[in-house]
Amino acid sequence: MSSPIRHYLQFKDFTREEYDYVFARAKWIKDKFKRYEPYHPLFDRTLVMIFEKASTRTRLSFEAGMHQLGGSAIYLNTRDSQLGRGEPVEDAGQVISRMSDLVMIRTFEQDIVERFAANSRVPVINGLTNEYHPCQILADILTFIEHRGSIRGKTVAWIGDSNNMCNTWLQAAEVLDFNVHVSTPPGYEVEPERAGLFGTNHFEQFADPMEACKGADLVTTDVWTSMGFEAENEARMKAFADWCVDADMMSVAHQDAVFMHCLPAHRGEEVTAEVIDGPQSVVWDEAENRLHAQKALMEYLMLGRIES
Ligand code: CP
Ligand code: NVA
Repeated sequence: MSSPIRHYLQFKDFTREEYDYVFARAKWIKDKFKRYEPYHPLFDRTLVMIFEKASTRTRLSFEAGMHQLGGSAIYLNTRDSQLGRGEPVEDAGQVISRMSDLVMIRTFEQDIVERFAANSRVPVINGLTNEYHPCQILADILTFIEHRGSIRGKTVAWIGDSNNMCNTWLQAAEVLDFNVHVSTPPGYEVEPERAGLFGTNHFEQFADPMEACKGADLVTTDVWTSMGFEAENEARMKAFADWCVDADMMSVAHQDAVFMHCLPAHRGEEVTAEVIDGPQSVVWDEAENRLHAQKALMEYLMLGRIES
């Protein structure tokens, strides 16, 4: 009997033990890439990438990553495919997965990727939904491990919106056993059910962002207005004004704390230029690691474990 298809739709889809493997594998693949050694385990395989929202990093890292692993990638978007003309997502899942080996989707509601995956013959990866962004947190934790070692038992301060990034950090804290201090403006607090938590209490909410940053090993934030929420932009600009990560916040974090941002960033809104362009910021490594982490993810979903 063949093994069931694995999808990667939320961070909690993998166990801690699987993450140990994927992070080690990402390091192996990255080191090989840096030595200019070709590695083509996905020779002749095709990744289809479906975008219903804009992207720079996600498209580039998946497309380049698939190419570097020996396969090819096809880009589809809502505007010039039948997806934008109301073809049911279930039908799209049936058809697209008969012509490809792997699918990555960036869309609005999580329900869309879940329904696509339920009708897919091949693994499906969540490339960002309104609720989650698991590929980004995969890269972020790989980056933390590279700079500071294991994240287990550490404290992450999340400052700003309780959005897809925040929800995914919260899931990761439960799976990998670390803590998240969340500070959001009133009315934008974490919704544990929407975040899809197991309920193991790995996070604490703080009204004051300075309190959330105290002693943190990693301080991170994201845009005040995520894609799909543009109509709320004006209200959010006012509500989030005090949730800008600045030097004062970094000064109360652990002296070795790193700063992360998934990008794109708005200097002067969610973070000051001094912090994001400063010595504690690891945002460029974080962006690069999308490539290496996702290569390990694609290899794992398609080929399972490989002894290196
Ligand atoms: N961080 C991230 O997912 O970037 P893009 O929107 O450019 O893909
Ligand atoms: N929270 C942001 C992340 C962008 C990569 C958004 O969803 O727009």
